[in-house]
Amino acid sequence: MTAHKLEKIFLTLSAAMLVAFLLALFYSAYGMGMHLPGREGMVVPGEVRDTPPFDSPGVHEIGPDRYEVVMVGFAWAFQPSEVRVPAGSEVTFIATTTDVIHGVHIEGTRVNFMLIPGQIARVTYTFSEPGEHLIICHEYCGAGHHLMYGTVIVEPREEG
Ligand code: CUA
Repeated sequence: MTAHKLEKIFLTLSAAMLVAFLLALFYSAYGMGMHLPGREGMVVPGEVRDTPPFDSPGVHEIGPDRYEVVMVGFAWAFQPSEVRVPAGSEVTFIATTTDVIHGVHIEGTRVNFMLIPGQIARVTYTFSEPGEHLIICHEYCGAGHHLMYGTVIVEPREEG
């Protein structure tokens, strides 16, 4: 086989691969509904602390048994580091990071997401049973990674 022929084969192969990858990309983007967050899901990483709602992190009651936790992750802590809600609360976490990628896993629940610079994560979970859950960072984020944790305290409902 001449070098020219080989070159032709390589070119054809790489063109075919390119098409295959593009098709896979379109499939995941449209077929599976994956996409980058829209404008409302973005935040300028350097301006997190000045951008609502992240200018007032904490636990906010937004309705009967409904709470919103505005959370900022940074090396190496979560703010707020303690979330206290009554049992049965539906809690929506709205979170981002001011620096590098961090992870959020709430032990004993299926809450598990990443904090990616520039993006706002939004996850809702109902804490039915009283108890305590550790919030841990599960993305290696530097020397203090293992110190980056918080707590969700689900308080027993007062019997009326
Ligand atoms: Cu934050 Cu690991």
